[in-house]
Amino acid sequence: MRTKTLFRCGECGDESPKWLGRCPSCEAWNTLVEELEAAAPSLTVAATGVATPISDIANVTDAVRPTGIGELDRVLGGGLVDGSVTLVGGEPGIGKSTLLLQALARMASAGRRCLLVTAEESAQQVRARAERLGAVEPELYLLSETALPHIVAAIDELAPAVVVVDSIQTIFDPSLGSAPGSVAQVRDCAHRLVREAKARGTAVVLVGHVTKDGGLAGPRVLEHVVDTVLSFEGDRLHALRLLRAVKHRFGTIAELGLFEMGDGGLVGVPDASGLLLTDRRAGVAGSVVVPVLEGTRPLLVEMQALVSQVDYVPPRRAPQGVDGARLALVLAVLERHAKLPLGKCEVYASAVGGVRVVEPGADLGLALAVASSLLNKPIAESVVACGEIGLGGELRQVGQTSRRLAEAARLGFRSAIVPVSAPEPPAGMQVLRAGTIAEAIRQAGLLRGGQN
Ligand code: TYD
Ligand code: MG
Repeated sequence: MRTKTLFRCGECGDESPKWLGRCPSCEAWNTLVEELEAAAPSLTVAATGVATPISDIANVTDAVRPTGIGELDRVLGGGLVDGSVTLVGGEPGIGKSTLLLQALARMASAGRRCLLVTAEESAQQVRARAERLGAVEPELYLLSETALPHIVAAIDELAPAVVVVDSIQTIFDPSLGSAPGSVAQVRDCAHRLVREAKARGTAVVLVGHVTKDGGLAGPRVLEHVVDTVLSFEGDRLHALRLLRAVKHRFGTIAELGLFEMGDGGLVGVPDASGLLLTDRRAGVAGSVVVPVLEGTRPLLVEMQALVSQVDYVPPRRAPQGVDGARLALVLAVLERHAKLPLGKCEVYASAVGGVRVVEPGADLGLALAVASSLLNKPIAESVVACGEIGLGGELRQVGQTSRRLAEAARLGFRSAIVPVSAPEPPAGMQVLRAGTIAEAIRQAGLLRGGQN
């Protein structure tokens, strides 16, 4: 087979015929590495399928098998599908290996044979962790291996029902010629494992590292060849972990799984709102609780802002767990339509507890937190706020307001500042309706009526 040389970017997977210091596609520096690519053999295509009535095709949902980890099954829509390939991405140290070890132990204890290919840690290290997590099960097999042919041979021999490869970036195939860890290696090894999964009906889970900006390291094609992409997120300094589906061929991507990392590994969190609000201090200016919706799950998140006047321009804007563009919009609207002098103020804004709040439904809460800090007046602690802010300063209702308010009522909040069009509140809760951001600031008791 003829081969030709090309250079491929380790970040985005794009190729170039010559070496360049900077990738022309994603503009990352020093990411191009040489790769030998086999010239495509001339193709003869054999017919592989016959057109079949849709009703005669086996329904894949029959083969959904629970992992036994409730929060994981919730995100997967019931469990892992036989013959499917799932990619679990997340930053180093977030808990991917822990989650999958716990899931495998559960499945093994239910009598399913499981294989954990540990390409980053030794089998002894994994055993030690499993001991602490209570995950030592006779049907759980460990293989500390990085070479793909040996991994495939082990799958052949054991015939496991579930295989986890931790991580796909450390697996290599010596027959490929390119360096271990290169984009071509990751892509081709993933392709091979996908074929193995489909051919045997084995559920395969690949662990993938993510880059600093949150994308999966390695070629984008990885996301296309697998059936499901899960993203494991959270702030390593906080205990809360969020698991969500970014892509899911067998169900919705609307579900959110919540875990808390503790000494005994990951534990599902049924009451995340309660957990997020545990350390809240009442009566502090710059704090508002917002009922956000993560998929179909309402969560109460405290939004905080700290505003102070400074002499330098442009003043600093520091969002944490809050979208920078939405913060900019909220500040511009507050300045123009509520006449708040924010142009010379530094603004720190954060969503507390390590969650990332990007939905527009948090605009109003963010705006009220900023106004409260600027005016140095706390908002009553039993109040929540939810609504989107338009560029004209108007408030708009956001989806599923009733569910959000029901969650707030469940946790003891007694009133909610909402847009005029919002639905009736649940029993025991009063709503304060506002048409504009300026009215909402007055409803929150930050400014008296008529004052600007
Ligand atoms: P790990 O699953 O190794 O993360 P990843 O595979 O995503 O890199 O988890 C790493 C962190 O989790 C590590 O810093 C220690 C912490 N941890 C606990 O706090 N409790 C536990 O029971 C375990 C197993 C890990
Ligand atoms: Mg790991």
